[in-house]
This record gives sequence, C-alpha cells and structure tokens, in this order.
Amino acid sequence: MRITEHPILSFKQGRRISFKLDGKTLPGCEGQTVAAALHAAGVSTYRKSPQLQRPRGFFCAIGKCSSCLMTVDGVPNVRVCITPLQEGMEVQSTPGKGCLPDEDPVPAWPWPEHYADRILETEVAIVGAGPAGLSAAVETTGLGAETIIIDENDRIGGQLIKQTHMFFGSKKQHAKVRGIDIAPLLLDQIEGSKARIMLGATVVGFYDDKVLAIVRGGEFFGLRAKKIIMASGASENMLAFQNCDLPGVYGAGAVQTLMNVYGIIPGNRVLMVGAGNIGLIVSYQLLQAGVEVAEVIEAAPRIGGYQVHAAKIRRAGVPISTGHTIEKALGTEKVEGAVVARVDESWDLIPGTQRELEVETICLAVGLSPTVELLFQAGCQSWYVPELGGHVVAHDENLETTVRGVYVTGDASGIEEASTAMLEGRLAGLCAAESLGKKAASGKREEIIDQIRELRAGPFGEKARRGKEKMSRETWSHVQQKR
Ligand SMILES: Cc1cc2nc3c(=O)[nH]c(=O)nc-3n(C[C@H](O)[C@H](O)[C@H](O)COP(=O)(O)OP(=O)(O)OC[C@H]3O[C@@H](n4cnc5c(N)ncnc54)[C@H](O)[C@@H]3O)c2cc1C
Ligand code: FES
Repeated sequence: MRITEHPILSFKQGRRISFKLDGKTLPGCEGQTVAAALHAAGVSTYRKSPQLQRPRGFFCAIGKCSSCLMTVDGVPNVRVCITPLQEGMEVQSTPGKGCLPDEDPVPAWPWPEHYADRILETEVAIVGAGPAGLSAAVETTGLGAETIIIDENDRIGGQLIKQTHMFFGSKKQHAKVRGIDIAPLLLDQIEGSKARIMLGATVVGFYDDKVLAIVRGGEFFGLRAKKIIMASGASENMLAFQNCDLPGVYGAGAVQTLMNVYGIIPGNRVLMVGAGNIGLIVSYQLLQAGVEVAEVIEAAPRIGGYQVHAAKIRRAGVPISTGHTIEKALGTEKVEGAVVARVDESWDLIPGTQRELEVETICLAVGLSPTVELLFQAGCQSWYVPELGGHVVAHDENLETTVRGVYVTGDASGIEEASTAMLEGRLAGLCAAESLGKKAASGKREEIIDQIRELRAGPFGEKARRGKEKMSRETWSHVQQKR
C-alpha cells in the first residue's frame, strides 16, 4: 500500500513504532495519524455502526465528518484521521459511548470566577492555519496586532499540504509554485512576529464576549479575542447512492492526504466521481502514485474543470464519461466494485444503461461546503447560496459578518480557490487590525479588493462572483426590512 516511487515527492518514514488495534500489535511510524497507520497496515474498516452494524472507515481525513471515530487509550469517539500516532497507543474498534466527567463539568456562560485562569486573551484570534488563516496573520502581525492562530491539525497549511500541482493565476498569488511549498512561504512572513500558532487544538464553541472554547490534548480552555477571524475552510460533500457508507468510498481530499502526505495509496484501482478541477487533479495525482484510474464519471453534460487537466489524464488512457453517475457501490465489508449508469438532462438515471466496474476505491469529488457551524453559534446571519457551496455567513466587502468584530474568510466565506483564500485572508487580517486602530499603508485595502475582483473576472470565477453578489443582495434587503 506504500508509494515507493513518485515523480515529485519523496516520503521520509518517521521512527518505527508500534501500536495495538483490538489487542493486536501493528507497526506504524512517527508523524502518521492513527488512520494513516491503519491504512498502511491494510485496515480500512475501523468500526461497525451502532444500530445496523454497518462497516465504517474514514471519509474526509480532515476531522470534519466523524466517519472515523474509534476508542483511543480508553477515550471513546476520537477522530483517528487527525490523531497523531504514538508508541504503544491502544486503539479499539468497539464504538464507545461518550460520557461527561463527574467532577467539574463545564459551567454555563458566563464562566464563574475560578475559571478566570482558563481564559487566555489576545487582540486577534484566527481559527484555521490554511492559506486564508496564514495570510490573515501576515497582515495582522505585520501591523503589530497580537495574534493567536488555532488549528486542529498537527501541521500548518490546511489543504495546501497535499497539493503537489503547480498553481495557476498570477505571480502575486504564487502561480507556478506547488501548493505544498506555499504554506512555508507564508509562515516565513509570520515568524518572528507577535503570532502564536496553536496546533492540535480544536475550537469547539463560540461564546458571548468573543470567547472561543478550545480543546487541546484533553485540556479545555477559553480564548477571548477583540477580533475573531474564521478561516475554518470547507468539508467535502457526500453523494447519496446505495452502499455509499462502505469503507473505500473516500472524499478526494482524503485520497490526496493519504497519498501525498503519508505516501499510502487508497487502493489499486479507483473510480473518480466528478470531473471538476479537484476530480481531474486528484485523478492525475493517483496516476503519478502508480494507481490505476478506471474511469472518471461526471453527471453534467460537460467537464467542469480546466481542459488542460482533462487532456493530461485522457493522454494517460483514462476515459472521462460525462452524463454518467454512480448507482451503487458493490461489496459488503468494503468496496469491491461500482455500478455506473447514464443520466438524462434532469440527471435521472436512464434504466438499462448500467454497467459494472471492478474497483477498490470510489473517490468522490463532488464539491465542498463551507465550515460555518461556529459562526452560527456566534449568531451570524446566514443565507443559502448554492453558487458559494451552500449555507454561507453574510459578510460585507471587508469580510466582517453581522456580528461586529467577527470576520469570515477563505472557503468558509464561500467555496473558491486557494488563490482567492489567500487574498481574502489578507483583506480580513488587514481590516481586523485596522479596526483595532493599527494603521495600514494607504490604498492597500483597495489594492487587495482589486486583485480579488481580477481573480473573479474570468470564466472560472463567474460562479463565485454571482454567489457573492447574491449574498450581498440578500443581506441588504434583510437590513432594509429590519429598519
Ligand atoms: C483536491 C484539491 C485541489 C485543489 N487545487 C487547487 C488549485 O490548484 N488552486 C487553488 O487555488 N485552489 C485549489 N484547491 C482549493 C484550495 O485548497 C482551498 O480553496 C483552500 O485551501 C482554502 O483555504 P482555507 O484557508 O479557506 O481553508 P483550508 O485550507 O481548508 O484550511 C482550514 C483550516 O482550518 C482548520 N479548522 C477548521 N475548523 C477548525 C476548528 N473548529 N478548530 C481548529 N481548526 C479548525 C482546518 O484544520 C484547516 O487546517 C484545491 C482543493 C482541493 C481539495
Ligand atoms: S472526521 Fe475523520 S474521516 Fe472525517
């Protein structure tokens, strides 16, 4: 299951360690997550569902879907896809029931006085150390604002850490630089500043007075910030079809994480569902890792991603079938095949067109949804805007939400690309710092807004442009109705 040769990446194995799965000793490496180590050891089923005893594996690999819950060192319901593996860890596939501790349960807000030492203070808190969060920190720290960045991963970069392809766009947005090389460039601009980066820390609650509740390594504490920037990214969409919950049905980002971060292939033969940029890019990366891509299917009548990506995988002999969907996954314990079929212009399946494919993995690249639950807790106004990926939080041109002092940026503000996420991050950071009284160079804000407009001006930015306009219209008419 390990990738031995790769045209771009070289995989350095961490120190060899061992851990236990249901009492059986398995090998692993330092630097892996528990899920990656299980996959490397050939284990793709992590537990059974409590009611129907259906097998469960992982789906998103970024901590957002809860498909991978296991009991780790006696703690039930741990997301093993973002839990770093440690020597001697005891992992169990039996689903546990969570329980709250007897003593000292978290009290209702406002927290009592003896909690005072559990609340840190900062000028700016940034949730998410992806391209948007890091870019926001470049601006806040550049203007001298005390900043804390929180991310639940154990490394910075968000989705960039698995993007081996070179970026498009202009030089200002790191065009021709590989995604994996961008986060260190952003970090260089933050290092030595007033920034603190808290990794392996999950923000689990948004309280009044701009207090974030954070869990890190079994500890629970609060962080009060004058300004909060939410750069929490997006989660992968699921597609409903028969057996879609079988281990072996993975999100495209999860496949990328396994291959490009941990050097492990998801399976030997893959069906890709979705021919947008992500589906096409990940198909090419699968080929680079030595995996056979049986077919790329797409329900729309035409390919959604760049033709240059489509041409590359076609040249490698991979068929791309538009007007097709998946009807069901085959297999009982894990994926052993798939049934695909043609669809009509309403995307209804055309009976009699079904055919079977023998595959070990079904990779879904069918879109992303903004991660905005914490902003809902904060009381931000939200709208459903399909062009931006679903439920989005209302924000003005400075990316400030309807809760003053709370900003949203990057994929969390509407699904676009890393290039836009970086610019939006800079805009939110700059505006948050300015609202604290810090002085930015004149014209800088307008310059960033112009660059964002430029990115959205092309045919691939059209959808986001329409979405942002719709969101502004909804917000404006809501404000007028309230007056
Ligand atoms: C397969 C693939 C290929 C792509 N290719 C390109 C491309 O070629 N060019 C391009 O411009 N874009 C590309 N993109 C899109 C790009 O990756 C995203 O638009 C970009 O990463 C969004 O940045 P972000 O900072 O908003 O979110 P993310 O990169 O997702 O970062 C969000 C971070 O927030 C953290 N987080 C979320 N919730 C919490 C919480 N409660 N507590 C703590 N931390 C939290 C997450 O762990 C994550 O690290 C691609 C995406 C994918 C999946
Ligand atoms: S939360 Fe672990 S796979 Fe989604």
